[in-house]
Amino acid sequence: MTQDELKKQVAQEAIKYIKNVPVVGVGTGSTVNFFIEMLADHKADIEGAVSSSEATTQRLKNIGIPVLDLNSVGDIEVYIDGADEVDPRKKLIKGGGGALTREKIIAAASRKFVCIADETKCVDVLGKFPLPIEVIPMARSYVAREMVKMGGQPVWREDYYTDNGNEILDVHNLEILDPIAMEKTINNIVGVVTVGIFAMRDADVVLIGKGDRVEVME
Ligand code: 5RP
Repeated sequence: MTQDELKKQVAQEAIKYIKNVPVVGVGTGSTVNFFIEMLADHKADIEGAVSSSEATTQRLKNIGIPVLDLNSVGDIEVYIDGADEVDPRKKLIKGGGGALTREKIIAAASRKFVCIADETKCVDVLGKFPLPIEVIPMARSYVAREMVKMGGQPVWREDYYTDNGNEILDVHNLEILDPIAMEKTINNIVGVVTVGIFAMRDADVVLIGKGDRVEVME
């Protein structure tokens, strides 16, 4: 199977998790885009969706799914989103698509976070994928220096702005042995909006597309 076929396989499996769910949280990225395509066949079953990015909002609107404001829906039953890396304890790196802040907010406000990933995303230790950090623009160089002190090699995602008007540093060379501790440490650096480690609020379920089957990590 190609990677896209694995993404489709796992997106299809995620549809099972939105049965009887009025409002679905929807993440961002190519795996989620397959899920959104499939959601079109189920739109009569849901009231609407809370979106994690402008790109996802556009796709949801294109297929006629109402996009709801998180402030008006309260807690979300189920949130479906992809990941850049998944470790054996369901801790994640996210933010390759730049939507990490809104993704983290929706994950926090959701009862069940179902992460959909293909097998290429599985790692023993997080950090081979460069860690995205959303920063307030004026703090970019300061945060970069702090990341160098932690052993990372930050690379500015040049000419890129998040949906919140901020910038992204992609930090290479980190070996994230304690994801919760590192998430807290980076969160505490002044100027950091969001770090792409999803460990304090990790996934409740990870579906891994493996071609012959979908593995369910619970
Ligand atoms: C976006 C994300 C995505 O979930 C992550 O980048 C995975 O994307 P894809 O499904 O395209 O591999 O965190 O901010």
